[in-house]
Amino acid sequence: MNWLQLIERRHSVRRYLPDLDAATVNQVRFICRETETLNSSFLELRLVGGEEIHRHLGLGGIGRVTAPWYIAAIARDDRDSLLNLGYSLERVVLRLTGLGLGTCWLGVFDKKAVDAQLELKGAERTRILLAVGRAAAAAKRMGRRIMPKRLAVFAPHSHRDSLPWLTVLEAVRWAPSAINRQPWRLWFTAEGVHLYSVSRPVGKAYTPIEMGIALCHVQAACQQLNLAGQIKETPHPKRKGWEYWASFVRT
Ligand SMILES: Cc1cc2nc3c(=O)[nH]c(=O)nc-3n(C[C@H](O)[C@H](O)[C@H](O)COP(=O)(O)O)c2cc1C
Repeated sequence: MNWLQLIERRHSVRRYLPDLDAATVNQVRFICRETETLNSSFLELRLVGGEEIHRHLGLGGIGRVTAPWYIAAIARDDRDSLLNLGYSLERVVLRLTGLGLGTCWLGVFDKKAVDAQLELKGAERTRILLAVGRAAAAAKRMGRRIMPKRLAVFAPHSHRDSLPWLTVLEAVRWAPSAINRQPWRLWFTAEGVHLYSVSRPVGKAYTPIEMGIALCHVQAACQQLNLAGQIKETPHPKRKGWEYWASFVRT
């Protein structure tokens, strides 16, 4: 499966079969170890058995997810670290999708209890748990309330129709985000695409992680479309209410 197919296939899975065979667990461990990073911030992706995690889930009325395994994403709490976490862990998510595994990003859990369980004491703490396993039942793909035209601006001369920007936009639109809020906004030009977020009071703390996820999807889609380029910060247009994060610049 190519990146675009993986993006299309991925969706959050909340019901899992109880077990995962040892060979697949080893593959998951390998993928965690080898995942690409966006910057040099500290990031540890630690595979933890469900029995260590289950009693710390299900806070605040959010549905319980009981998977056989979880990837604890351990990072610092600053912008670069969380952006890196979002990018790297979503690369893992897409690779696990390719193995036929289900995943679900979890931001709501008893963080203090999980950190104590994993014996984390410094600034590097568990920011996200990623549920991993085989889906127990076919899950329906969640819809998207925000329509594509509200997510993107096409600059004049951006060759909207001759470049496959709409494919890139779709790749971002179907990325996972906390409570499906899709904070990302894109500004397409002939040279590339700038990524911004809009601020919403609910779930604001997840924005850097979600922007890392969006960058992963932009890069994966461009790679599949043979659009060479790199992610970097560049001069970018300003727009009221939009916060700039990074750009994919074609080379
Ligand atoms: C940073 C982040 C945190 C999330 N936290 C939770 C969570 O605590 N519980 C949950 O059931 N889903 C959680 N999700 C999954 C989202 O609800 C889901 O991605 C979104 O509704 C879109 O659905 P989809 O993943 O099936 O496309 C989280 C997603 C992200 C990116």
